[in-house]
Amino acid sequence: MIKISPSILSADFANMAKDLEVVKAAGAEYVHIDIMDGHFVPNLSMGFPMVSACRKASDLVMDVHLMIDTPIRYVQRFCDAGAHILTIHVEADTEENTKEALRIIRAAGVKPAICVKPKTPAEAVLPYIDMVDLILVMTVEPGFGGQSFMADMMPKLKQIRTYIDEMNPTCELEVDGGVNGETGKICIENGANVLVAGSAFFKAEDKKGFVKNLIQ
Ligand code: DX5
Ligand code: ZN
Repeated sequence: MIKISPSILSADFANMAKDLEVVKAAGAEYVHIDIMDGHFVPNLSMGFPMVSACRKASDLVMDVHLMIDTPIRYVQRFCDAGAHILTIHVEADTEENTKEALRIIRAAGVKPAICVKPKTPAEAVLPYIDMVDLILVMTVEPGFGGQSFMADMMPKLKQIRTYIDEMNPTCELEVDGGVNGETGKICIENGANVLVAGSAFFKAEDKKGFVKNLIQ
């Protein structure tokens, strides 16, 4: 089952409730919320208030992507703010702290997830694979919407799909960055089942058609 997770980084921030309705009406199941700290990535975006506001305004699955250093400091607060899935980067802290952060997320009743940047190898997910409900593979350098899809991430995506099938078959496999109607299909062929789409989704004239084309 393929799921679409439109990224609100490309939404209209002055009309977020309306755009969440647009996401829902298009048939997407998840909504992707990008949190940036200006350290882990060279950009700032939004924080706890946006997550809680979106959770109040919508019954979509809140798919929260933390692009922040030492996420263990803040995971409890993002769980309290209403995340359903909370993703932290493997590059953002030590293995010990990353595992502890995943335990905190699980204990809060939220789905723990990890993410790998383009230069991080597939094997980097292995220490955490039995602790997570989703693995996110970046198909652009994190930090900005509207970048070009990195097709050279596909072997890594395929490798992580093999790990998931062997070690944690119910774990979801998500891609993020430059996903559109064409690149999304390539990701599905290589094992992804959740597709984040920011600019391509919000620019699409026919958003229902955009989702339908990818999930069928
Ligand atoms: C990038 C973010 C993405 C971004 C994707 O760092 O993690 O979620 O919103 O935007 P597009 O789909 O435009 O590449
Ligand atoms: Zn993201």
